Amino acid sequence: MRLQRKYKLNLYFTCSFHQLVLISDQYRISVNLLSKTIDRFQSETYDRFFSLFASYDEELIGILSRLLIDKPGTILDLACGVGLSTKALSLNFKGSEIVGVDIDPSLISLAEKKVNFPNTRFRCCEISKLLEEVGKKSFDIIFVKSAYHYFEDEISLPYLKKFLRDDGAIVVAERTARSADSYPLPEIASAYWKNIFSEPRPDRRVNSPSSLGLSLFISCYGKFITVPKSLYIDAVRENQLVGLWMLQPHFISAWIEQFSKDRYASLEVLEEFWLYVYRNK
Ligand SMILES: C[S@@+](CC[C@H](N)C(=O)[O-])C[C@H]1O[C@@H](n2cnc3c(N)ncnc32)[C@H](O)[C@@H]1O
Repeated sequence: MRLQRKYKLNLYFTCSFHQLVLISDQYRISVNLLSKTIDRFQSETYDRFFSLFASYDEELIGILSRLLIDKPGTILDLACGVGLSTKALSLNFKGSEIVGVDIDPSLISLAEKKVNFPNTRFRCCEISKLLEEVGKKSFDIIFVKSAYHYFEDEISLPYLKKFLRDDGAIVVAERTARSADSYPLPEIASAYWKNIFSEPRPDRRVNSPSSLGLSLFISCYGKFITVPKSLYIDAVRENQLVGLWMLQPHFISAWIEQFSKDRYASLEVLEEFWLYVYRNK
């Protein structure tokens, strides 16, 4: 299923995350922020690259597990991709039942192959379809890592709250602008990516968590990760980092050629995330 449509004009502009981006015709721009995620991720390359951050994911979710007073019974990993976040949840919440959901069949198929825990299962479907199916007050934690910024406005905090149990929490983990800035990318992709994370994302769809009966706790965690240069180049070549999706292949190839000239074999990126914990009061 290809939901992606591309438009090529002499001059492009798109409204992205409240920002008007104007791009000359050396770039390609994709419209519809939700559908662009589908068939953009190449399961194998995505998995190889982001598996490098597995210990980071575990530590980040470890912080979450220490913040919670009660042990959650059921956790939903919303937009779980190839299951990297789901695995980190499974390792930190061994006594919980964990469900990972994603709309992309190739990502879910790899998740099912690679993440085998008796307490963990995966579903391939659209978020709202799964939620409407399971019904209200079904989850103790609704967890979203690296994905909230893709969601359409309907998948907002008020919407998600309906599916939380009385003492439950919605947890949104989003990269910080400092982290986004530390990944070397072509300038336009880098600016775009950094902009996505330049403000607290979850808040943008709700004026005040307290008006929803939610309390908000924010934590931040970061550390440097060493990435082999060859793996980084593969990830860039296959557009696995947000922002690159806008660029034409020849532009990316020229950047890679330039980047490859530097002799170093690896690079250090800052992986830093905000952890927004919205608890039912
Ligand atoms: C960057 S990946 C994050 C994967 C995972 N949470 C992690 O941390 O590795 C974003 C994921 O959001 C998924 N996604 C975006 N919109 C979705 C929707 N409406 N329903 C289900 N999945 C969605 C994409 O398919 C993609 O796998």
